Formats: sequence, structure tokens, C-alpha cells
Amino acid sequence: MTDMIPFIDLKAQRGRIGARIDAAIAKVLDDGRYILGPEVAELEAGLARFNGEGRALSCANGTDAILIPLMAWGIGPGDAVFVPSFTFASTAEVVVLAGASPVYVDIDPDTYNMSPASLAAAIDAVIAKGELTPRAVIAVDLFGQPADYPALAKLARAHDLKLIADGAQGFGCTLDGQSSLHWADVLTVSFYPAKPLGCYGDGGAVLCKDDALYDLMKSVRVHGEGKERYEYARIGLNSRLDTIQAAVLIEKLRVFGEEIEMRQRVADRYAAGFGNQVNWPRVPDNAQSTWAQYTIEVADRDGFRAHLAAKGVPSAIYYPIPLHLHEPYAPYPVAPGGLPVTEAAAHRVVSLPMHPDMSDAHIDQVIEAVLSYPAAHS
Ligand SMILES: Cc1ncc(COP(=O)(O)O)c(C=O)c1O
Repeated sequence: MTDMIPFIDLKAQRGRIGARIDAAIAKVLDDGRYILGPEVAELEAGLARFNGEGRALSCANGTDAILIPLMAWGIGPGDAVFVPSFTFASTAEVVVLAGASPVYVDIDPDTYNMSPASLAAAIDAVIAKGELTPRAVIAVDLFGQPADYPALAKLARAHDLKLIADGAQGFGCTLDGQSSLHWADVLTVSFYPAKPLGCYGDGGAVLCKDDALYDLMKSVRVHGEGKERYEYARIGLNSRLDTIQAAVLIEKLRVFGEEIEMRQRVADRYAAGFGNQVNWPRVPDNAQSTWAQYTIEVADRDGFRAHLAAKGVPSAIYYPIPLHLHEPYAPYPVAPGGLPVTEAAAHRVVSLPMHPDMSDAHIDQVIEAVLSYPAAHS
């Protein structure tokens, strides 16, 4: 059996910055302020600085990061929140947790991100039916590529909807040099270890530009706390980020910009190697992806993956079944015309190894494995 190259390689990153991270963790252990210690505020300031605008509030994970603004806005029963179905569960799960109804929107076939045309049709259909009140849109920066925010924000504004950028995979991506928060009301982040900016456990953050919203979300983060400790102004969550995770992230954030460039180098080498023989991901010239995943499409996916595995190349499928086809997510409305692009993509997508420390030899091994499978070219 051929040895597999890594799909992502967190050990290689430890080789570069592990000693600094270990020292930062040791400092927290000695210090003893394990919850909301000084590193948490330091990280939040660093995240906002990195993002270029807004304020950052850390929280327990990237799922809560989306739930917190929904709760702060009072979105709940009778409300519609427009989401893609081609995404991780959290994007729609939080809508149901808040008591509202997800409405599934189709994606663009080139970027896998929310289609503005499908969103427009879905909003009109919800209004025409009159059973739900449109309240918000959650666009996902899938695989690290920014959604079409200028078009999505225009629609959201026209219908007085809040716009959430689910940047769990895309923190650090830009469109016209701007972060997704330039257009969205909030930008949410996941620090799950495999994410481009991952910690050593669970973690998340939500960024926004509005001080009143920030204060509300801060209250929701810790049990709906009011002005005093043990005085509650609303129902909230226990969604604090551990100080140890903040200390890890402070060190990782120092090299994050460079790591996005390192991922871009891998993507460029892949694209040059694949040429016009493979349907590789197109990122527009005015956008920067964080390359959370490098996803291509093939017709005979099972055969292709077996071929890659035999050549020591692991692969993964994000996502094999769109959310609206899972039993718990099936009862909610879909955009008029259904989700044909979503359903086609779910059958064809396959993600290849991608991480900042990938050697040229491993990149070339992947390219050779892909190109030597004839059906990869279809
Ligand atoms: C698009 C998307 N949204 C939300 C999340 C949730 O993040 P977390 O796992 O930190 O709760 C993820 C993480 O997998 C994700 O990929």
C-alpha cells in the first residue's frame, strides 16, 4: 500500500511556529486566567486589525458565531433566513435553533457560492406566499472564496434583510481588496483546527461594524448578561473562547497572511499543472481565496478517488449530500426552480490536498495522479 501524503499537515506548521505556541500556552497555564483572560481581548483586537475593519468578538465555535447575531437581532419563529444548501450543516442549523425557517438558495456553478438570481427568486417567492417574514441572508465563503457580496448586499438592502457572511472557511479572503464585512452586517469565523486559521480545539469569532450590535452580541455570548454580573437582560449562550485557544490563535495570526500566500502558491502550481485538462477552481482576478479547500469536479468520482488513493493521494468530498436532502433539513422551502446546480455539484466535487507547507514534490504527485486518470478530464 502506497503511503498517503497529508491532506492537510498541521504538524508541518508546528515545525515552523510550534515552539512559540507552546510558550504562549505555558504562559496561560502559569497565569491561571483560563476564561476570558487578557489573551482573549488581545486576539479580538488582532482579528479586527487583520480584517481591516470592524470589531471582533470571540466565541466558542464557528456555529455559535452565526447563531449569536441571529439571537441578537431577535430572529425567530415566523422568520425566513435565506441560506445555501451546498454548505456545512451549521449554516442552516443555527436558523432552526433560533426557531426560524431556512429557505434554501441555489449556487453559482463556478464559485459554489450563493447565486444572487436564485436569492432574488427565493425572496420574491417567500413574500408572495406570505407565510414567513424575510429577515436575513447567510452567504457562505465556501472553500475560502468570497461570495458575490456586491450583488447579495444590494438584494439584502432592497428587502431590509440582515446579511451574514459565514466566513468559517474564508476569514482572510477579499473581494476588491475588502473583507466580506465591507458588505455584510456580520462576518463569522471558525477556528476549528482544520480551518485556514485553526486553533487547538474549538473556537470562533463574529465581527461587526455596529457598536450597539457588538454590545448585544457580547451579552448573548455570556448568558445574556446585563450591565451587572448575574443580571440577565436576555436569553443567551455560554459561548466563550478559552484563553488557551486565544493564545494559540495570537501566534497563528502572526503568520496567517503569509500562510494565505503559501496556499496561493500551491493553488497556482496546481492550476499550471492542470492546464485546461481539469475543471479547476476559478477565482476572479479581483478576489483572494484563503484556499480552505481545493475543489475540482469529475464525472466518475468513485473511480477517480480510488485511482488517487492508489497513488498515495488522499481526497475528500465537501459535500456529498446538500443540506436540503437530509431528513432534519428537508421540511424547509427551496428557491423556485429547485437547486439543480447544488445537486449536480454534490455529485461531482472532490477536494485535493491543500495546506501552506505542501512541498513541490507532493504538489507534483497530486498533479500526476489527477492527470493520469482519463475521466478526470471530463
Ligand atoms: C461553512 C461553515 N460554517 C460554519 C461552520 C461551523 O464552524 P464550527 O465547526 O467551528 O462550529 C463550518 C465548520 O466546519 C463551516 O465550514
